[in-house]
Parts: sequence; C-alpha cells; structure tokens
Amino acid sequence: MTTRRVAVYPGSFDPIHNGHLDIVERCLPIFDEVVVAVLRNEEKRPLFSVEERVEMIRDLVAGRAQVRVQSFSGLLVDFMRQVGARTVVRGLRAVSDFEFEFQMALMNRRLNSNVETVFMMPKEDFSYLSSRLVKEVYALGGDLVGLVPAPVLARLAERLAERRPAVSASNEGGRGGKA
Ligand code: PNS
Repeated sequence: MTTRRVAVYPGSFDPIHNGHLDIVERCLPIFDEVVVAVLRNEEKRPLFSVEERVEMIRDLVAGRAQVRVQSFSGLLVDFMRQVGARTVVRGLRAVSDFEFEFQMALMNRRLNSNVETVFMMPKEDFSYLSSRLVKEVYALGGDLVGLVPAPVLARLAERLAERRPAVSASNEGGRGGKA
C-alpha cells in the first residue's frame, strides 16, 4: 500500500494572489493532496476575515480535486497531524524570505521531527508580489490586473469601498479588471 502524499500550504492569504496560486499549481504533480491552510490571525487585523479568505480560495481552486482549503489556529504542526500531512510547502520569492523561512522550517521540525518543509519558487513574474503590497497598491489606485485574480480584485473593491467610500470612488479609473 502506498502512502498518500499530503502537503499543507499554510499562510495568511490576506488576500490570495497569483503568486500563491502559482505555488498551488506547482504542487499538483508532486502531491496527492494539497491542503491550503489559512491562518486564523484576527489579532493582526486582516483586511478579510478567515471565512472570507477561505471562501475566496475555495472558489479559485474549485476545479482542482486535489486541493482542499481549511482554516487553522494554533500550531501548524498540530494542524498537520489532524490532516495527515508531513510536508509543509512554502513559497520562496527572494533571498530576503530565506532567514524567516529557515527559522520556521527548523522550528516546525523541532516540534515534530516527521515534518519537512519544501520550498518552491513562484514564476519570476510574481517574485516581488506580496499580499501587503497588493493591499497597498490597490488602496492607492494602482493596476493589479495579472497579479491578482479578478474575483479577488472585486472583493478588494467592495472592502475598500466599505472602509473609505470617498477615496474608493475617486480612484475607480486606475484599477481595471474589476467585476
Ligand atoms: O503568510 P504568512 O503570514 O507568511 O504565513 C505564516 C504562517 C501561517 C505559515 C505561520 O505564521 C504559521 O505557521 N503560524 C501558525 C503558528 C505556528 O505554528 N507557529 C510556529 C511556526 S514555526
């Protein structure tokens, strides 16, 4: 009997962008199942609630039978035990990501010696992309088409309109691609 290769791809995903989706796609030929694990981090005051983030990602991966989306809180290694995974997947965009990722990988392995971390490089076009920059550029009216899926751009429009109606209305021309 062969063991199912289950990977967990954890993150805040506030919001998910094309660099994240590129990593999910790269996992598909390697793992039998990929669990996108959305951290419940309300104390960081996310733009989207964990339920909204999970829903957005589920919609985007709806055609991928190998991909499951779940939220988690507490230790990642505990969540991994629950879903029967021993591999953590993390995207590595630049050398600057490495130090923090290295610490997390070793700490996770210290907490559970069965857990290994696999790093994947997203497509070069997304190597500078982060959720933080997505939120900032969107709020200032920058064009994010090609970097963020259209349904997420639509959610950003709704959320920022709720929070800052005046700024949002005056920026409408700059973004493009909104539903
Ligand atoms: O997208 P992010 O914010 O870089 O993801 C960070 C994440 C969710 C992978 C990390 O914060 C995490 O695993 N948090 C869960 C708590 C935990 O296990 N902490 C110890 C990790 S060494």
